[in-house]
Formats: sequence, C-alpha cells, structure tokens
Amino acid sequence: MPFTEANSRINNKPILSEGSTVLTVGPFSCPEPTNSHGGNGMNPPSPESTRHYPEALEKWWKERVEESDVHTLENLHRNASVLSDHFTVKRNKGFPDYFKKPGHLLAYGIYFHPKSWVRTRFPLLEVIEHRGWMPDENEDIHILDIGSGPGSACLSVLQLLHARFPERKVRVTAIDQSPHALDTLRHCHTDLNHLWPKSSVRIQSKNLRHRSTLFYGGRDRFDLVVLSFSLNEFTTSSTPEEVVGLIQASCRKLLKKHGLLLIIEPALKETSENLRSLADSLVVDGAVHNWGPYLHAGPCPLQQTNKFWSHEVRSWHPPESMQYLNRRMQRRIHELKFSYVAMSPTPAPLAPKTAEHFRLVSPMSRMKGHFLMSGVAGDGLAHTYELMFRNLDSEQKRTLRKIERGDILQVKNLEQFGDRLRIPSFGDIVQHYHVS
Ligand SMILES: C[S@@+](CC[C@H](N)C(=O)[O-])C[C@H]1O[C@@H](n2cnc3c(N)ncnc32)[C@H](O)[C@@H]1O
Repeated sequence: MPFTEANSRINNKPILSEGSTVLTVGPFSCPEPTNSHGGNGMNPPSPESTRHYPEALEKWWKERVEESDVHTLENLHRNASVLSDHFTVKRNKGFPDYFKKPGHLLAYGIYFHPKSWVRTRFPLLEVIEHRGWMPDENEDIHILDIGSGPGSACLSVLQLLHARFPERKVRVTAIDQSPHALDTLRHCHTDLNHLWPKSSVRIQSKNLRHRSTLFYGGRDRFDLVVLSFSLNEFTTSSTPEEVVGLIQASCRKLLKKHGLLLIIEPALKETSENLRSLADSLVVDGAVHNWGPYLHAGPCPLQQTNKFWSHEVRSWHPPESMQYLNRRMQRRIHELKFSYVAMSPTPAPLAPKTAEHFRLVSPMSRMKGHFLMSGVAGDGLAHTYELMFRNLDSEQKRTLRKIERGDILQVKNLEQFGDRLRIPSFGDIVQHYHVS
C-alpha cells in the first residue's frame, strides 16, 4: 500500500506490505538479524528479500574462475584491488573498457557483482513496498540497463521481479561499452534461466560518452530505466548542464508514464552530491517527480548544509567467495554504501508535510545521554532528532542501535528542544520501515 497521509495515521495496522519489517504502535521492535542469504537464521532465505544473493550465481562465477588458465581465487585479489582503486582513489584516470582484461571481469564477478546485485534491490523494493510503485499491468515489463557491465543490476531486477510477479514476462535491454561484459551477461542469463524464466535479454555495445540520449530505441518505452554505478563513469568529461540535458531528454523519450528512473551511484561525497544536484534540477524543471529517497517532492535540504551528504549505509553478508578474496585485500565489505534517486513522470504519494515522518540520513549516535539522529522529513527539511537514553530499557536500546541509515521512521508528540526535536519516549516511535 502506498505511503499516503490517509493511511499513515497511527493505528495498529502496518502501512506497508508483508515482507518489509514494519513496526507499529508499541511494542516497537527491530529487524531480525540476517544470515548470509538474507534469512534470519530460522527461516529459509527468501528470494524476494533484499539481501538474497543466489548460490547458483555465486557458483556460476566461481566456475568461470575455475575455467581460467591464469586466474584463481587466490590470485584474483590483485585485479579486484586495481578495480577498487580505479572506482575510488584513481577515478581521475578515466574509465576505459576495463573488462577487456579477463582478470578484471572475473574479479568483478566475484567481488563487485554481488554488491551491485544486492544494492539495486534496496531502492527497488522500497519504491515497490513503501511507495506503491508498480510496472504497468497487462504488458510485458520492459527494463533498460545503462552501463550494465555483466548485468549485476538488471539480472537482480529480473530475479526480484520474477519472485514478486511470477506471471509477468520481463524484457531487458542492456547497454555497455564493453562487449566482453555484455557477452558474459548473455551467457549468465542463458545458463541460469531458472532464476528468471519468462525473461529475455538483448544487448547493445555502445560508447555513451557525449550522447544526447541514453538509447535510440525508436518507439521503445520502459517501465524501469536503471543506471547502477555507471552515470559517473560515462559523464566524467561532461558538464553538469550536459548531464541534466541528457537525463531530461532520456526521461521524456524513454520512460512510460508510470515508468521509473533509478540511478544508483557510489557514496563518495562528489558522486552523491552530483547525483543530488542532477535530481534537484530535474524536479525543479518538472520533467520528473521524486520517488526516493525522500518523502517530499522538493529538492534535497542537505545540499546547503555541508554536514551530511545523501547516501545509504546498509549491512549485509557478503558471499563466501567474496569474503575469501577480501582476506588479502582487507577492505570493509560488510556495509553497502551508495546514493540513489528514483524518479518518475508520475508524481509519487507523499508523506504528510510534517517533521514526524523522516528518512534517517545520519548514523544513529549516542551523545551525552541521548540517541541523536538526523533526518530529512516530509516537510522537506533536515532535522536533528533526540531520544533520552535514561528512560530506555536494554531491549529498547538494542532495538534502536539496529536502525540503519536510510530507514524511515514515523514518530509522534515531537517537542522542540533548542535546535533539536525531542522524541519524548520510545513508545512515540510508531513505525519503522526497514527494507529487509
Ligand atoms: C562500475 S560498472 C557498473 C556495472 C553494473 N551496472 C553494476 O552495477 O555493477 C560501470 C559500467 O559502466 C560502463 N561504462 C563506463 N563508461 C562507459 C561509456 N562511455 N559507455 C558505455 N558504458 C560505459 C562500464 O563498462 C561498466 O560496465
């Protein structure tokens, strides 16, 4: 059920659908800890869950490594390190077709592909469960993946949509500059067909630099256009105005009326702020409307504060093969960090224009007897919220520590306390949306 003023009143019924972790009027409880496949240790992992990474897919990539004469899981960490630096500290060197090297492609499959797979599901599940987004009915679902690489985002979308809408056919168009990555996507799609029956994939090898639209598809219109960690790469030498023009034109030409544009970018300050500026320009222009991450229609209030930048931090359990590779790399891999925007030509259901509904945009911190958190609320403003520590029992403290950056809270009875908003008691937290 979508998030609307009418249904967000305080009652004992969750406003959100089953599958998400929803907390209603006391007792406020927290998400169950997840095991390595997104389950909670008691229940089998659900293919519909965010953190679900199929064993068959991990096995498929391990077999590609085993087939190689040169590369092994023992030596792939070098390639993974080179790529990791390339995506972060050595970004200024540009982005040629790094998948040309077989070692890079294999390292991507073991080390980066699972992250992209899981990451894509957080915003997608949120817009489906929390905002009520649905692809148009009675038609095939049509997805465009721009800068798809070996299909980390679009295959995840395929698997998720199949799990949620098993009767629907889904068609993917994937575009990338790398023919090697696209070939891998095609093979993976064919080999693991049981994960996404009723789907088809077509691929196009194209350099997207300095284009005026993302895709020349004649009359093709898409339910979902996804750019996962690719926009920053093919627009490195474009001006912000050029990027706005490109995305505006693409939205007009490519999205169905209820279609969704989902752009996911690295959580680096620079890439996150660029993404927010882009989204804010698009919203002001009126070409598209916000569907996430914020609950209000207007621009991001954090752009002016310079304190936080808009991004998510989500815990997950990386697959074994990725953990194995990381033993030599020692990077922090148990958190997924990313920024995202979801937009559509159709306006989203909005939260009430108050401070009581908000998205967490900071870590939950403990300071001088308080839990402190920052949120961007339905009124379009950034607020600091506090909850007194001393009245909480240990179970309640444990619960609060599990709230993640990116979760959505609804509270009541807020009191102004200096420049903060005080949540008087634990019982005043009435709902918690955590994509699970
Ligand atoms: C970090 S990877 C992301 C791949 C995949 N979308 C994911 O989420 O894992 C960035 C992708 O953008 C593609 N890319 C970079 N520059 C490009 C360009 N100029 N034209 C087309 N694709 C490009 C790369 O080949 C790569 O597949």
